Formats: sequence, C-alpha cells, structure tokens
Amino acid sequence: MTTKEIPLERTFLAIKPDGVQRGLVGEIIRRFETKGFTLVGLKLLIPSQELAEKHYAVHKERPFFKDLVSFITSGPIVAMVWEGDGVVASARKMIGATNPLNAEPGTIRGDFGINIGRNIIHGSDAIETAQNEISLWFSDAELANWEPTIKPWLV
Ligand code: TYD
Repeated sequence: MTTKEIPLERTFLAIKPDGVQRGLVGEIIRRFETKGFTLVGLKLLIPSQELAEKHYAVHKERPFFKDLVSFITSGPIVAMVWEGDGVVASARKMIGATNPLNAEPGTIRGDFGINIGRNIIHGSDAIETAQNEISLWFSDAELANWEPTIKPWLV
C-alpha cells in the first residue's frame, strides 16, 4: 500500500484539566507523535458549560454527568485532532480503560491516573463519534490539511 491509498481517518482527543494542570501535555502529545499519527488541530481553551454539555450529551441522564461537566469546565483543556490510519481505535488503546485502575500499564490512564473522574484524557470512541466531536470543537478553518512529505514508516 502506498501512502496515498491510506484512508484519512481523524479522531478528537482532549487533555482534560487534570492532565493540563499536572503538566502532562507534552508527554501525551509526544506519545501520539512518536506513534506516527499526524496532528491536524490543536487549541487550549476553557470549555463553556454549553460545549461541555453537548460533548457529553450521551451521558446526560447518568449520575456522574453534573460532576463531569463541572470538572471539564473547571480549567483549560487541550483539544486536538489527530489523523492517521486506524487512529480512532488506536488512540483508544493508547488511552486505556475508562477507570485508570483497570487501565493497563503503558496506556496513558494506566501510567498516570487513579480516579475515574480524573482520567486525564478524552478520545472519541468510534469513527462517527469522532466526526461529530471534531465538528463540535473545531471549525474547518482551524484544521490543517497537510501530510508529512515523507512517511517512510508507513511504506
Ligand atoms: P465514558 O464515555 O463511559 O468513558 P471514556 O472517557 O473512556 O470514553 O465516560 C465519559 C467520562 O465520564 C469518563 O472519561 C469519566 C466520566 N465517568 C465518571 O466520572 N464515572 C463513571 O462511572 C463513568 C462511566 C464515567
């Protein structure tokens, strides 16, 4: 397969306020860069209540919803879009199980987390979810359509 035939898949990742405040931004970005994925969108923001509620709308009836929204709006997060073959599932693997106590060592949550309510990073759980989350968090103008000129690790 040549690089041109590799389908462009994108996922939405967000380093949550705990990850930012613990100084894990560089470490987390490094993991996705060295894996070989391409960063196409990146911004730091404090999400509004409305944005956080939309992002986690699927959980609105769950008992943890209020705390989750209040945590995610409590400080800056780093919102990112990453691109690459199989990036949605691969990023979920690299992130690890929702509860950091069940996350394997070597994953982000397994290496850095303890508490389910402070699990450091969000990653889209499916390709369709990723498309919805990317358009919720980023405008088209905020995404860079680019490819590394040489991808020797993919050929
Ligand atoms: P979920 O979408 O199930 O997990 P993931 O982030 O791995 O896709 O849940 C969204 C977030 O809600 C999760 O990252 C942390 C929080 N949460 C709780 O605080 N308590 C819970 O019992 C669950 C299931 C999630």
